[in-house]
Amino acid sequence: MAVPMLDLVAQYKKLREEVRAAIDGVLDTQGCIGGPKVAECEKAIAAYSDCKFAIGASSGTDAILNALMSLGLKQGDEVITTPFTFFATAGCVVRAGARPVFADIDPKTYNIDVKQIERRLSKKTKAIMPVHLFGQMADMDPIMDLARGHNLAVIEDAAQAIGATYKGRKAGSVGTCGCFSFFPSKNLGGVGDGGMIVTSEAALAEMCGIMRNHGSKPKYYHKYVGGNFRLDPIQAVVITIKLKYLESWHEARRANAAWYNAKFAGCDKIVTPFVDSNNRMIYNQYVLRFRADKGASRDHVEAALNERKIGNAIYYPVPLHLQECFADLRYKEGDMPHSERAAKEVLAIPIYPELTEAQKEEIAKAVLDAVGA
Ligand SMILES: Cc1ncc(COP(=O)(O)O)c(C=O)c1O
Repeated sequence: MAVPMLDLVAQYKKLREEVRAAIDGVLDTQGCIGGPKVAECEKAIAAYSDCKFAIGASSGTDAILNALMSLGLKQGDEVITTPFTFFATAGCVVRAGARPVFADIDPKTYNIDVKQIERRLSKKTKAIMPVHLFGQMADMDPIMDLARGHNLAVIEDAAQAIGATYKGRKAGSVGTCGCFSFFPSKNLGGVGDGGMIVTSEAALAEMCGIMRNHGSKPKYYHKYVGGNFRLDPIQAVVITIKLKYLESWHEARRANAAWYNAKFAGCDKIVTPFVDSNNRMIYNQYVLRFRADKGASRDHVEAALNERKIGNAIYYPVPLHLQECFADLRYKEGDMPHSERAAKEVLAIPIYPELTEAQKEEIAKAVLDAVGA
């Protein structure tokens, strides 16, 4: 039995009528840019995330870029972040004119290691950008302590973690601001690109609102150079509808994760996701590590799953400090050993809420067969 990595059609079948009516509502008014539907969505996401303000964005990438630009980063400023993440995290730092400084991860959670951040602080450091990878928040208390002590902004890259919590606090609500992605594969996904910034700081929220419209206020008077970073109303109505179901989807993913954890528990070649006791993980991805030191080969498992048409994905095969476009940052292999090892050993398997028992059995069997367990 083939199993896809993600089955959005299964999700859409349950929401079809509701989503189509809402999209028709937008089309009937032809209010296709901004307007009340975007505002409604922003209000709902702010409330869900325990933040005072939310500013829609055209993607998770543009949410991060807007946040960095609105925080006033400039040439020569440094932003400390993780190399084990999607490209956008560091790409936006460069696009905002600043320099990404990479700090290695905690090999258990795959999130940025605060001890490594501390070692990389300099006079030029202006911000820290932890990434809540795979749906688990980074260790925010020591990060916030460090930031307060050095007067740094903290941008939570919460693209994969809407609804995750750390000590009961929601992703996006702990730092200066948080950025979400509504890319369709996220737990809360649109029908195209979308994103959002959340914050409880009024001045930052206002600035993000200005920057998303090319830095203009009033219209055609440009005090700043911003961009077109707007969330469109079609995405907004879909996100608002899906938000009603999000908690049940999180719980279904968590139940699937618990099911897999039990299946793989007896195999010492496989490391299942480690969730810190402070955290509620929402499993945007369920990522296994195949231990090379125990004779397992991630690449072999990947090939075996592909052979059996079982969905899988490597997040991420090349840590950002080794990306060609960042060669001028002068990192080399060996600089971030935990990220480099993770890049060679991790593999995500399907975790979406609609997975059936039979599909999970098929996936788990394929994985265990592949490692010879
Ligand atoms: C950690 C992280 N940051 C940023 C982004 C960028 O979001 P988007 O794809 O919506 O631009 C993503 C999305 O894949 C992500 O996973």
